[in-house]
Amino acid sequence: MKNIVRMKTSLVEEVEQILNEQVKMEANSSSKYLAMASWCQQRGFSNAGDFLMIQAGEERNHMLKIFNHILDRGGVAFSPEVSHITHEFANLREVFEIALEQEIAVTHAIHRILDVARKAKDYTTEYFMQWFINEQIEEEAVARRIVELFDVIGEEGQGLYLIDKEIATVRAAFAAANAGGAEAGA
Ligand code: FEO
Repeated sequence: MKNIVRMKTSLVEEVEQILNEQVKMEANSSSKYLAMASWCQQRGFSNAGDFLMIQAGEERNHMLKIFNHILDRGGVAFSPEVSHITHEFANLREVFEIALEQEIAVTHAIHRILDVARKAKDYTTEYFMQWFINEQIEEEAVARRIVELFDVIGEEGQGLYLIDKEIATVRAAFAAANAGGAEAGA
């Protein structure tokens, strides 16, 4: 049955497969951010917790975007299983270092999708993935800026309190810059 349906779609199997892998990666990112948000809220880092909760929601949206793309193309989208989510972190700095590593890994994964789509001459997927290429610029930049705060502000004394406070500002600044860019591009 699957083969008969597949004859009616332009989505080739290797692109469908790597897109489903990305669905899983985005779901995994969402769950990791949720665990990080929980860790932060338990320790009084409420701005960090709020930021990570928003990130968890964004990752779920990324997952659904790709999931729907597979379906819109006539492919088979798989609801991902997520497991082995860490809930323990050494400190706040480690939370954001892991977040940055995760975003860099997602950027590389998106680039691999582009490679596979280009090889398969799947220009529709290539065009679709451009949104993710742009999104990753912000995702990496925000995470990197937050990691930098630990060196710029320092963790001694009121340092962690000030870092948590500044995280809200970083997030708002990037959101405002993006809104401005969207208006300018409209
Ligand atoms: Fe969906 Fe943060 O990458």
